[in-house]
Amino acid sequence: MEYNLSENVKPWIPGLCCYTPGQTIEGYTKLASNENNYGPSPKVKEAIRKAAGSVNVYPYRDPELREKIAGYCKCRPGNVITGNGSDESIDLIYKTFKGPVHSVNPTYTEYRIFAEALGERYSYTNLDEGFTFPVEKFIKESKNARILVLCSPNNPTGGVLSEENIRAVLEEGKTTVLDEAYVEFHKRSFTPLVSEYPNLLVLRTFSKAFAIAGLRVGYIVADPEAIKLLDRVKPPFSVNTLALEAAMAALDDQGYMRETVEKIKKDRKRLYNELNKKFKAYKSGSNYILADVAPMRSNDVYEKLLEKKIIVRNLGRFHGFSGEYLRVSVGTTEENERFIDVLKDL
Ligand SMILES: Cc1ncc(COP(=O)(O)O)c(C=O)c1O
Repeated sequence: MEYNLSENVKPWIPGLCCYTPGQTIEGYTKLASNENNYGPSPKVKEAIRKAAGSVNVYPYRDPELREKIAGYCKCRPGNVITGNGSDESIDLIYKTFKGPVHSVNPTYTEYRIFAEALGERYSYTNLDEGFTFPVEKFIKESKNARILVLCSPNNPTGGVLSEENIRAVLEEGKTTVLDEAYVEFHKRSFTPLVSEYPNLLVLRTFSKAFAIAGLRVGYIVADPEAIKLLDRVKPPFSVNTLALEAAMAALDDQGYMRETVEKIKKDRKRLYNELNKKFKAYKSGSNYILADVAPMRSNDVYEKLLEKKIIVRNLGRFHGFSGEYLRVSVGTTEENERFIDVLKDL
């Protein structure tokens, strides 16, 4: 049998660039993937233990999770679809709606990777100096796109979008994705705009504030007609039994999540001030802080921190921008203090 791999693969696949996850090394302080290092509520762990006995049957409590999410987001269950993390939600939207896709730079790299994996065109508008959102330029440069992707708070800059700018983009009447993965660390969510704008799809996740990134649960809040279409494309069991139970338990104990979020928000200020003494730090509405370490090389700073068993995210350079960037997640208070001690000696 002869099989020619390159003749059978879709022609654009070999040229795709892969997503590089934050490094995880046992015994190291990981401040690289914007996780909630306090971990989930004890009730979530208990729910996972309990559910272990029923993993022989296919997951069946997705409708209940959608109901609980609707309660949390103050919408109807028909406005909600769950997925295997926001990553699946992005993929699902790109499979369901017509491209091309337009977003900003810098932002979460998966917006590009998922689009290109589907053979979809992807373009972007550079954020302004200081990483603010240039709404008019964005609207002008996205004329040929049919899917617009916004992220607030934006990863990796931590910048947040105003309601005015979100509305201005929505008024273009294009499929508009608003990724709110980190919204619990900021203020209010824009999910209520879904009842006004049938073109709005809000992405949310249990990976960040709710601290169950390893279980992979995300969801989309959107107009019920859009949800029905997304449901035609979604694999039926992409959220597994343990993940469903954990997410429901997390929603039943929101007080725990809020307590950890408050600690993270408090420490964010301290981390920002300390980073800003040494480098140029950017104000963040999220659980991470972007720092420009130039004239030092971000890789050198990254390696020095690694020697001290601290892992941050080395982002290097952004296309179209000067500077050398690192992103530091806000960990537990103890982890942040360890980081600050090492930072002072850099
Ligand atoms: C902006 C943004 N959206 C989505 C995700 C992925 O979320 P999930 O774990 O739900 O796939 C991340 C992960 O870092 C992110 O930064």
